[in-house]
Amino acid sequence: MKETIFSGVQPSSIPTLGNYIGAMKSFVDLQDKYQATYCIVNQHAITVPQDPEILVRQTKQLAALYLAIGIDPNKSTVFVQSEVPAHSQIAWLITCQIGVGELERMTQYKDKSAKQESVGAGLLCYPALMVGDIVLYDAKYVPVGDDQRQHIELTRNFVDRFNNRYGEDILVKPEPIYPNAGKRVMSLQDPSRKMSKSDENEKSKISMLDEPGQIIKKIKSAVTDSIGVVNYDTANQAGLSNLIEIYASLSEQPIKKIVNQYHDLGYGRFKSDLADLVVSVLEPIQKRYNQLIASDELYDILSIGATKANETASQTLARMEKVMGIRYR
Ligand code: AMP
Ligand code: TRP
Repeated sequence: MKETIFSGVQPSSIPTLGNYIGAMKSFVDLQDKYQATYCIVNQHAITVPQDPEILVRQTKQLAALYLAIGIDPNKSTVFVQSEVPAHSQIAWLITCQIGVGELERMTQYKDKSAKQESVGAGLLCYPALMVGDIVLYDAKYVPVGDDQRQHIELTRNFVDRFNNRYGEDILVKPEPIYPNAGKRVMSLQDPSRKMSKSDENEKSKISMLDEPGQIIKKIKSAVTDSIGVVNYDTANQAGLSNLIEIYASLSEQPIKKIVNQYHDLGYGRFKSDLADLVVSVLEPIQKRYNQLIASDELYDILSIGATKANETASQTLARMEKVMGIRYR
């Protein structure tokens, strides 16, 4: 039997190149080796305010993008979180066993709550839902970007605690898988911050649905430095190093080779080749996306995915409910 992996992306906006390089690209690369389950985590998205109509649209867009990048529904299970009730059910069981202090330490919670006028309890409790997502499918590995490190560690601690209390091997303890290059893709305008879907500055991010012209413009205007020689040096040439990581990930070449190639060619030439590379990766994805978003096929695939996910998830939920004493028949 193949080992299992699980991951998810929030339909909170159109995914960026950071989402693609940090996580979604690995989803495709890993689906042959592992039994993969990929979720559109719409229940995570509502931990901050969402416009309902936009949320529905983005849920479908993300599903279409999953398939457009090459996730194959014959190999992997693809589904929308809210169509598998076990996620919200298990989240409650987990919420009751996680400390408020543990949740308050999460940097994503601190960052996101600082941006909200009034903070919903779901934003604090959100890691419990994420722990649930992972354990429901007995996931051994979780491909994610670096910003999820703390949440994965919390999941691992939770699993240890739960198994100690209720019996070994009830839940599987997961390990993260980070990409070799680009586990933290930075903003094109401020290389000290990560590229984020929710950044209001459009020039800071490349959306997976940006047109070639926009992509070229954004890469051209990406912040670099005045050193002028292409080097991978995250301390002194952070902006440029970020662009090199993007190049390394998309071309699947080692950073060293790229630096050797461009060392004396100047930033202009490097940026222009990088822009061509990004366009050459995103254009075919966008073509497939445009076909899928207008088809009924998407709904069929998500229905089959939800049915498959439900089968596995309801078994794990039952196992957990049983040991916790809330299943009396
Ligand atoms: P989210 O958009 O928060 O749902 O993130 C979905 C996945 O993309 C997670 O695995 C994140 O770690 C990853 N991710 C998001 N932003 C970046 C980034 N700037 N660089 C690398 N990975 C990222
Ligand atoms: N919390 C993740 C994020 O914001 C998304 C996510 C939800 C996830 N559930 C997950 C990622 C389970 C991996 C596994 O990016």
